[in-house]
Amino acid sequence: MKRLVKVFIFACLFVASLPVFAADKPPTITLKKPPQVLAQWYKPANKRQVWLHTMFRLRREILAMKDYSQQKKQVELEKWSQKFIKDYQSIAKMVPQWQKYLYSDKLPELKEQVQQQNYSAIKPTLKKLSKSCMHCHDDYQTVATLMFRAPTFNDRVIAEGFSGEKISYEDLMENMSDSVNRINIAIKDGYYTNAQALIEPLEQQLEHLSTSCGDCHQEDEVPVHRIMGASQELLPELARSLGSTDKNKQQSSGAKLGEFAVKVCAKCHSIHRLSSDLKFLFD
Ligand code: HEC
Ligand code: HEC
Ligand code: HEC
Repeated sequence: MKRLVKVFIFACLFVASLPVFAADKPPTITLKKPPQVLAQWYKPANKRQVWLHTMFRLRREILAMKDYSQQKKQVELEKWSQKFIKDYQSIAKMVPQWQKYLYSDKLPELKEQVQQQNYSAIKPTLKKLSKSCMHCHDDYQTVATLMFRAPTFNDRVIAEGFSGEKISYEDLMENMSDSVNRINIAIKDGYYTNAQALIEPLEQQLEHLSTSCGDCHQEDEVPVHRIMGASQELLPELARSLGSTDKNKQQSSGAKLGEFAVKVCAKCHSIHRLSSDLKFLFD
């Protein structure tokens, strides 16, 4: 009997604790992965970013139809509606699994409205069709952009450098992070000369890193110049304030290091690290 009571109490406690477990469970985010066939419509499988350009056209076609139906310009309206119908239908030709997102039954309706110059009916039809765009975008747009267009860095090796050695992005990043933190620690503890001596290795690491930007940024060097230029300006400034005999200048070097970290490290991270990390989650 005693045993039964014990079991009963245990069971009660267990049941009582269930909602607590449920409450403790962290909320999760579910993302849908687009069908693999979509890759066919992107580089490198394709010569062009076919899918993306179809999307740009669809948006343009919807706008043109909206404006021309309001202006009652029949010739232009017909031209743009034909283009639209063709592009809208191509969605399911490219990705058959996505047929279910399309309101294909609205296309004959649209065609008829255009032919009969029923201008006032066109806008509501376009609005309905646009809902199909939204549904698919809600489900897939962000993940597809990351999967098929964002560059990855996790498997990237930087070939040449001042040391002549290959190094992965990840290892170089850790080395740079150590350099920045060592300078920071030395400044905090007033070892300004030590901090100054640590700048050159950091400059070399950044120079090594900059040899990799051109792998992808061949034509547009502006973003690279903006980030690497900031380091070529800020690190010598930092070195000068650390080497100064003026106490105030030495103390202001912490702020200068912070400025460097934002303009050089954080700016690049906001584009490349964030998208690279997110993309890595999908693989
Ligand atoms: C079945 C899915 C699907 C449907 C339907 C769809 N799209 Fe898209 N759309 C996508 C995906 C996936 C992307 C992301 C492409 C990328 O970033 O490379 C996208 C991206 C876009 C973009 C690019 C946004 C940007 O600025 O980067 C535009 C514009 C667009 N779609 C317009 C439309 C319009 C207009 C329609 C409806 C007439 C539509 N799409 C219907 C899947 C869809
Ligand atoms: C290309 C522009 C770029 C610049 C400039 C840059 N980083 Fe990074 N950083 C990245 C990318 C991309 C990753 C993710 C690498 C990966 O996916 O393995 C990263 C990752 C890191 C990581 C995490 C490494 C890990 O173990 O995952 C640290 C720490 C880091 N960076 C520090 C720095 C510091 C400090 C600076 C400035 C001195 C800096 N980075 C400048 C692009 C950059
Ligand atoms: C693996 C290819 C690749 C490498 C390597 C690379 N980038 Fe990029 N970068 C891109 C692409 C592609 C874009 C366009 C944005 C996008 O689609 O993510 C971009 C965009 C940027 C941008 C934002 C665009 C702008 O005009 O502000 C900055 C800044 C940038 N890169 C800096 C760098 C720096 C600095 C390096 C080297 C340390 C570097 N990138 C290395 C591919 C790369």
